[in-house]
Amino acid sequence: MEKEQPVGLFDSGIGGFTVLKELQRGLPSENAVYLGDSKRMPYGERENAEIIAFANSGIRFLEGKGVKAILLACNTVSSLIDQLESRVPLFSIVEAGCEATLAARNRGAVGLIATTATVKNGAYERLLARRSDRVHYITQGTRTLAKIINNHPYERALLRKNIREAIDPILEKQDVDALLLGCTHFPIVRESIEQMYPELTIINPAERQIASLRAYLAERDLLNDAGGTTEIYTTRNVADEKIITQIIDHIGLKYDVLAQTELDVD
Ligand code: DGL
Repeated sequence: MEKEQPVGLFDSGIGGFTVLKELQRGLPSENAVYLGDSKRMPYGERENAEIIAFANSGIRFLEGKGVKAILLACNTVSSLIDQLESRVPLFSIVEAGCEATLAARNRGAVGLIATTATVKNGAYERLLARRSDRVHYITQGTRTLAKIINNHPYERALLRKNIREAIDPILEKQDVDALLLGCTHFPIVRESIEQMYPELTIINPAERQIASLRAYLAERDLLNDAGGTTEIYTTRNVADEKIITQIIDHIGLKYDVLAQTELDVD
């Protein structure tokens, strides 16, 4: 491996932009290649076999771009990390989310919203239980929120309704004061969530994921101090989709390439 090789990021759509933002903030001299499989999102409503096949094809694409490590910027994919095939190290956002949870709270219940598949796979609960018997999640899956953020983030009434439907059931079960965003799409609407639920401390795992990557690269003398380029690829037609550039502007990402691509699995 060489320092100059880019860091890969993979998500089912634009959610991983929230991880890319943390990468650009925390490791601004790294080169990055982002792949969002927007054509086939939401992954969170798919069967595991399909998610694994799509994720493996995304990993092959990023390997083809010569990446030195891959940030799985998708909780749904990370919840199946043990079943993925990769020649380069994979960094799980679920693992980062557990670490961020324990950094925020050392006892009691923490709310967790995620996609249906992430909830079904139970990776958050398993990982947390291995590390602590004092903290647990009150988990709620949402079938729609990631898709609405991916496709209609500016439809406020629809967005607020779906945020409410995801978070209220948690608060009805238990009076938590912290909420883990267990889907990388959700930090895109963090401001709306904070306005609607000012009493909740919001936990976004992305910063931790970048800290893990930094530690890994530093240990192997692979930190790049002379790069900083970003290439973004999506499987949907970016030229026709103002929404992608609107979100990029909203998040404040910088990029050098924005292009459509195909993956080797349909
Ligand atoms: N961004 C993905 C995640 O973190 C989920 C979106 C989807 O369902 O495709 O889980």
